[in-house]
Amino acid sequence: MEWNAFNSGRICNISLASDCSSDETGSATEMNAPAKTEDFALSIPAGVYAETVLDVTHYTDRLFRFTMTRPQGFRFRSGEFAMIGLMVEGKPVFRAYSIASPAWAEELEFFSIKVPDGPLTSHLQAIKPGDQVLMRKKPTGTLVLDALTPGRRLYMFSTGTGIAPFASLIRDPETYEKFEEVILTHTTRDVAELKYGFDLVHEIQNDELLKEVVGDKLRHYPTVTREDFEYRGRITDLISSGKLFTDLGVPPLDPVIDRGMICGSSAMLKDTKELLEKAGLDEGANSKPAEFVIERAFVG
Ligand code: A2P
Repeated sequence: MEWNAFNSGRICNISLASDCSSDETGSATEMNAPAKTEDFALSIPAGVYAETVLDVTHYTDRLFRFTMTRPQGFRFRSGEFAMIGLMVEGKPVFRAYSIASPAWAEELEFFSIKVPDGPLTSHLQAIKPGDQVLMRKKPTGTLVLDALTPGRRLYMFSTGTGIAPFASLIRDPETYEKFEEVILTHTTRDVAELKYGFDLVHEIQNDELLKEVVGDKLRHYPTVTREDFEYRGRITDLISSGKLFTDLGVPPLDPVIDRGMICGSSAMLKDTKELLEKAGLDEGANSKPAEFVIERAFVG
């Protein structure tokens, strides 16, 4: 299996510049630790799942990943997001999180930023296996295969935690049924922040079932902007200069062949969208599939 040069080493939750407070609670500033388990059961809001944390991995002082149990009967499409929350001072605080695990997985995975005084993530970053996390029942989102018209090559453009929905999609066999080539770009400030993506690609390469399905279709293009690395620069600059395409050995963006998904900060979404539109690709949605899609749920 050929994983090409960009897979040497490592791969939208959207990159969150700021934490989002609950639409129910408004913004909260002073917070205690999450409620203890025995109090928690009494206070779970109606219509919300309370799931058990299974595993937590801290990558840097800004990034962590966790997995939790998947409620029976909870269905989602790879690439969608859900509202994840905790009880804080007796009130539920929720934020939109891309589900990073694929639709077929038994557990739910999330990749999160840590905002020191964020209403949710200041608490969420302290979760441990056995703790409970809330999840609203209805997942949704536009970074889904159904929102794209048929094409040959699928680009997934991500920055920071914006890689999360693509972590789901690159582990879904349907992605490889629909596209001949899948290019995952992941840009972070420094090399340490790329690790989640590298681990993910490594996991796929070593998974007996997935490696059969994925073959050599997945290409990983990691870049960093604030320290030395083999591939450097913002993805927008690499598209504009054409270096992305030269490095990958593919032709420039073509609306007949190429499809795109974008997940990152609001500025990154805007700038990347402009470049795709300049190349002749139109933005799509669940109700009107087209050549590229953006997830706006995560940005203020
Ligand atoms: P930069 O270091 O030049 O700001 P963050 O961690 O702040 O979400 O950023 C993740 C990555 O997204 C960083 O490498 C950052 O580059 C990059 N980035 C920030 N704004 C944009 C933008 N408007 N277009 C493309 N990339 C961006």
